Amino acid sequence: MKVKPYEQVSAIYDGLMKKLDYDSWSKYILLIAKDNVKDKAKFLELGAGNCKMAKILSDKYKNYYASDISLSMLRSGVNNNLKKICCDMTSLPFKEKFDFVFSAFDSVNYILKKKSLQNLFKEIYCLLEEDGMFTFDASLEKNSLNFSISKSTEGRHNDYQYRMLSKYNKQSRIHSNHFYIRDEFGNEFKELHKEKIYKLDTYFKLAEKEGLYTEACYDCFSFKDVNENSQRAQFVMRKIN
Ligand SMILES: C[S@@+](CC[C@H](N)C(=O)[O-])C[C@H]1O[C@@H](n2cnc3c(N)ncnc32)[C@H](O)[C@@H]1O
Repeated sequence: MKVKPYEQVSAIYDGLMKKLDYDSWSKYILLIAKDNVKDKAKFLELGAGNCKMAKILSDKYKNYYASDISLSMLRSGVNNNLKKICCDMTSLPFKEKFDFVFSAFDSVNYILKKKSLQNLFKEIYCLLEEDGMFTFDASLEKNSLNFSISKSTEGRHNDYQYRMLSKYNKQSRIHSNHFYIRDEFGNEFKELHKEKIYKLDTYFKLAEKEGLYTEACYDCFSFKDVNENSQRAQFVMRKIN
């Protein structure tokens, strides 16, 4: 049975990410936030998934909102004291403003159309405080080129078995992940996740059109400028005054 992205992957997500160091990733986000926002700052996370990072970061920043388009992902997280909002980051429901908005781990790559990416920047412009900051990472082509020939991984998590097939199409710049998941009752599910691998310039230009400038673009997990060998970029944006 075909299901929408993350409906069943939410059940195996922690298994898929077991090697991911959320503590270090969160520390990196904290370092970016540190000199820019006060402890009482209003934080908004987009594409928060099952809220692993939210759990860590909201320890310091209590005024924290975690959002994601997938209700299954938000529900699969354990931290129920968090304020969680199910919404699409390209069409946000908030009326109030935020000091710090961020998104981590490819969530922005899930926006497949330039027009929608531009809408994201438009939304961010509206909900950022004047001195607010928006930071997000994006997976780059250097990473996807490792998948020009498709790669398959298999695993087990709780009572689920899964196989993931990853492939990059250089022409369309779409990186696809096909998931084949079987639950304990033998039910089989298929999910297709597509990520768009935009050029760096696309992010800079679309953001600028919506009134945001890129204060820094790092080789992700460092504070060095992004370069041609970077697999992931970390953008730091502010409103143009
Ligand atoms: C690779 S996961 C990353 C989740 C989390 N940030 C983490 O580090 O584990 C990508 C997440 O982006 C979410 N997502 C994809 N498109 C979205 C959109 N348009 N608006 C909000 N969330 C979106 C997915 O539902 C998924 O939870």
